[in-house]
Amino acid sequence: MDTHEISTHDAEADARNEALLIYVNGELVPKAEAKISVYDSGFMLGDGMWEGLRLYDGEWAFFDEHMDRLFNSLKSVSIDIGMGPEDVRDILDRTAAANDMVSDAHCRLMITRGRKAKPFQHPGLSRYGPTIVAIVEHSKPAEVLQSRGIQLATVPQVRGLPTSQDPKFNSHSKLNCVIACLQAEQAGADEGLMLDPHGFVNTTNACNFFIVRRGEVWTSTGDYCMNGVTRAKVIKLCRQNGIPVFEKNFSLYEAYGADEAFLTGTFGAQTPVASIDGKIIGAEGGAGPVTRRIRELYKELLSEIVAHQRSARGQKT
Ligand SMILES: Cc1ncc(COP(=O)(O)O)c(C=O)c1O
Repeated sequence: MDTHEISTHDAEADARNEALLIYVNGELVPKAEAKISVYDSGFMLGDGMWEGLRLYDGEWAFFDEHMDRLFNSLKSVSIDIGMGPEDVRDILDRTAAANDMVSDAHCRLMITRGRKAKPFQHPGLSRYGPTIVAIVEHSKPAEVLQSRGIQLATVPQVRGLPTSQDPKFNSHSKLNCVIACLQAEQAGADEGLMLDPHGFVNTTNACNFFIVRRGEVWTSTGDYCMNGVTRAKVIKLCRQNGIPVFEKNFSLYEAYGADEAFLTGTFGAQTPVASIDGKIIGAEGGAGPVTRRIRELYKELLSEIVAHQRSARGQKT
């Protein structure tokens, strides 16, 4: 693999993903036949919301947190799907079962305002109910992400104010992030490090961003970035385990001089950062000691949470 050809969402190759069954509006359809209308609001306008979830031991990790974000987003843009989180869980479980998946699977759940009567913007033209699609792939994050780390480049594209398009929306329209990713790639890096409108370091185009400086873990204030489920878990784990953690403004000066840096996201959990704008971070290329400790704590949390979710569900049935 060429040094500039990795991304934070690279998974080990898995031929089974060519023969998936995909959930499309109530049906499980072979991948090649899984289609939506060219009039779909998501296709035409990016008018929809999505979630990325992972399956561990038959449980969707942090399911409640993902549903909280999803339903909050849907409500904010007045998309009523006529079902609740448990119905969504049923969709995900059915899709995973149809594909014989128990662990190491990643779901992209996509909900749009649905098919439109005419090819124009007005939401009122989306008359035929929401479109719901769940793609669940066999997925193990590529080992190279841990061993060689991610190369970041600071990009001109910034995270916006909530008054333009709130960065907390996990919307189908990710053009802001896609532009940032292109800028990073064209600068020879893997992913874009995005600043906020004031010039403080905020997040990357696909993950949340942390640095480790002199024994402290720092991340942005949380304004302007995705309210990442993994981000919140890492902050909580640090607090519970005596690792000093701060949500604060900091600049590239402090990021360049960090001892370690890492990205967080549902797919890769914690992915080490090897360099920012060509400046090597830390001494190890891959993860440093604090990142490794957080990664271990996160793995333990996942096992606990999955066991807890399973027993809570067992009690309800
Ligand atoms: C821009 C951006 N930042 C961060 C994240 C990570 O969020 P989470 O930890 O909930 O997967 C995502 C994932 O959807 C994202 O799109």
